[in-house]
Amino acid sequence: MNNKNELLKEIDSRRIPRHIAIIMDGNGRWAKKHGYSRLRGHQEGVKAVRKIVEIAGQIGVDYLTLYAFSTENWRRPKDEVIGVINLIRRTLLKEIDNLDKNNVVVQFIGSKDKMDKKFLKDTKIACAKTKNNTGLHLSLAVNYGGRLEIIESIRKLVLDIQQKKEIDVKNIDEQMFSKYLYTKDMPEVDLVIRTSGEQRLSNFLIWQSAYSEFWFTNTFWPDFGAEEFLQAVIEYQHRTRKFGGIK
Ligand code: IPE
Ligand code: IPE
Ligand code: MG
Repeated sequence: MNNKNELLKEIDSRRIPRHIAIIMDGNGRWAKKHGYSRLRGHQEGVKAVRKIVEIAGQIGVDYLTLYAFSTENWRRPKDEVIGVINLIRRTLLKEIDNLDKNNVVVQFIGSKDKMDKKFLKDTKIACAKTKNNTGLHLSLAVNYGGRLEIIESIRKLVLDIQQKKEIDVKNIDEQMFSKYLYTKDMPEVDLVIRTSGEQRLSNFLIWQSAYSEFWFTNTFWPDFGAEEFLQAVIEYQHRTRKFGGIK
């Protein structure tokens, strides 16, 4: 009954979340359930990414940020780490022309520290092709950690204070500081979705999600599709956001 077209009719096009961030979790458990390698789980996860990018663009989401590899994920076995990072790079190279044709702007957020030269070079060239597009802004969070983001931002800010004497420490406020984050050009996160039954942020967008709505599902990421994505948006549209005030 809850098929995609019926759910699409339920969406209020005037209240689309501007920025949706997704913690794509459960690839490993999906693989285990099916008797496959963990890497196969990550490969299946790519198919879900394709579907979600498409539906997000279709309903008019402006910003979609996907958590693909965290600063903590380096703790995994080396072959999985290399496998995931290569999968991200290869998938991007394969998909970039199609994304470009669909007017998507692609960028990466995360630390460049520890990322290999080939990854940085290939992804930079691919993303540059899409920089003048005007559709969905797709941000891939790779080697991303919210705490490291804040630390790297503080480093940049302190350097600016030391170099450009006109910055007055008294003028550092939330708005000014947020211009030093990886997400400097993006709006606040309206909705955070996490799959696989876990209900935690795992160091994702900790500054940017201060007032986000959260939506969780037990579905493993490779099984996540347009229907559940639309359900999350519909539920979001029924929530009252108060930002500390009274409604
Ligand atoms: C999320 O799936 C993808 C990455 C963190 C790279 P997991 O690999 O964390 O899957 P589970 O949590 O082990 O099932
Ligand atoms: C968060 O998932 C990171 C990504 C989805 C890329 P994890 O599976 O790494 O998070 P924890 O370890 O369960 O908190
Ligand atoms: Mg996980």
